[in-house]
Amino acid sequence: MKTVSAILAMVVAVSFAALTACSKPGPAKGTTEKEKPGAKSPKSITVGFAQTGNESDWRRANTESVKSEAEKRGITLKFADAQSKQENQIKALQSFIAQGVGVIVLAPIVSTGWDPVLKEAKRAKIPVILSDRRIDTADPSLYVTFIGSDFVKEGRMAAEWLVKKMNGKAKIVELQGEPGSAPATDRRIGFLEVIKNYPDMQIIDSQSGDFLRAKGKVVMEAFLKKHKDIQALFAHNDDMAIGAIQAIEEAGLKPGQDIIIVSIDSVKAAFEMMMAGKLNCTVECNPLLGPMIFDAVEAVMAGKQLPKNTYMVDLVFDQSQAKDVIASRKY
Ligand code: AHR
Repeated sequence: MKTVSAILAMVVAVSFAALTACSKPGPAKGTTEKEKPGAKSPKSITVGFAQTGNESDWRRANTESVKSEAEKRGITLKFADAQSKQENQIKALQSFIAQGVGVIVLAPIVSTGWDPVLKEAKRAKIPVILSDRRIDTADPSLYVTFIGSDFVKEGRMAAEWLVKKMNGKAKIVELQGEPGSAPATDRRIGFLEVIKNYPDMQIIDSQSGDFLRAKGKVVMEAFLKKHKDIQALFAHNDDMAIGAIQAIEEAGLKPGQDIIIVSIDSVKAAFEMMMAGKLNCTVECNPLLGPMIFDAVEAVMAGKQLPKNTYMVDLVFDQSQAKDVIASRKY
């Protein structure tokens, strides 16, 4: 599995490199006179990275990947942690614009409400790269490229696994991610798209746990008080699933047996839970975006055109694979 993962990751990285290498050189969209193509070596590029926050193991791995890749390439990184508030992220973007950074990398907390600040960046001729989460906009010229996972596909993969495991019949509770965020919206869309074909697969309750472990526990406690017939849990991330596992145990039930659990991210802690028999399946969402983000930064500064969207290849892991895979997990 390690080899398959490594090969797939390489295929994505190589296709991305090929796309950027084959593109026609020309003025980089949004570079200033001072920073026009060829005028700056990668080492003198300053990048402003507006991160969502620090809500999950996934997020911490993502931050680390971006920071360490910038350091490796000698690129100056200005890092802003928005503490899960869009207004903080907008302020961070305005500050990056005022400081005249070369490129902005934005991991948008929610998908709407970005046009005004992205128009400010465009006016200042600063290219914006979207990382991790997509945005809703009628004007795709407001960003140069998106790099991240296909969240609808992740939701579909979780549902397909669960349908098979439950033979098409289950009473399901759902722990949604941060309201308004692309992963919460899209994972739900993908999951519903699959289960609508199975009338006996029913979501009996659904609530947000904000991608937080502590909130996953609190919401699961409420689900357990309200419903005595829960057979499966779909959690939009591993952290909330782990919080829910605690709630299920405290209610005197066996997570992974009495309630079948599928979640998303594939962080190390999820593999530990699978090895303990408490989590049944985790769908991968690769947070190690740093190398691809800085390939894109360097390409845009060199005046190359980028593909509008680059998606990571994500896999599905269940308990039978956990022992073999855990040692090779990097996050
Ligand atoms: O946008 C990716 C999601 O954000 C991850 O699934 C979740 O853990 C996170 O915080």
